[in-house]
Amino acid sequence: MRTKYKQWAVDYVDEHPEIAIQKLDLKDPFFTEKDVVFEVGSGKGDFIAALSLNHPEYNFLAIERVKTVAGMMSKKLVEQGNKNVKVFPWNAELIFDEIKEGFVYSIYLNFVDPWPKKRHEKRRLTFITFLEQYYRILRKGGRLYFKSDNDGLYEFTKEEIAKTKFKVISDEENYKFDSENDYITEYENKFRSIGKSIHRIILEK
Ligand SMILES: C[S@@+](CC[C@H](N)C(=O)[O-])C[C@H]1O[C@@H](n2cnc3c(N)ncnc32)[C@H](O)[C@@H]1O
Repeated sequence: MRTKYKQWAVDYVDEHPEIAIQKLDLKDPFFTEKDVVFEVGSGKGDFIAALSLNHPEYNFLAIERVKTVAGMMSKKLVEQGNKNVKVFPWNAELIFDEIKEGFVYSIYLNFVDPWPKKRHEKRRLTFITFLEQYYRILRKGGRLYFKSDNDGLYEFTKEEIAKTKFKVISDEENYKFDSENDYITEYENKFRSIGKSIHRIILEK
């Protein structure tokens, strides 16, 4: 469901450069002092807020292209006091080319938009061109975590994975939540509450 435009959230992004970064400076100590974990399509940030709080040993980049949503996430992270997360309030496609091979420790794709129409398949964040970029920017042994409620996107993603060099570590059609190592997302919460099966795939470079 589309989030309504909220001026305060858009302003929050512009007024809080300490959390919401407009330009990626990969030489900044934030990106060099610790291993860096990406989440693409973070939404309002429930997942990254919990993951980053529980893993101070990493720095996190939450990528969310809708500015209102990025603003809501930024406020949540600032209020929670997380110092190890930055929000990139733009389309993820804008940054892949400038990230060097092997730069990223792991990548999370949670409940990304399914784009059900065939003519929109290139927009799916698991289309082959995206998977190839993830593979390139991940370090050797780095993992890509994918979760979705959407059956069509799940099947499509498996077909696209088969075209890559990724090793499939696990593929669960009905993923029972791993509460010790995983964190619930806003969409996951919504779909689990109505009994929808959640699919999860873990890949390794
Ligand atoms: C269906 S929501 C899921 C949000 C959250 N991950 C969750 O599980 O609750 C997908 C989010 O991905 C964002 N998104 C989609 N494509 C993106 C892209 N290319 N770059 C950055 N964000 C993107 C959308 O704006 C949306 O907020």
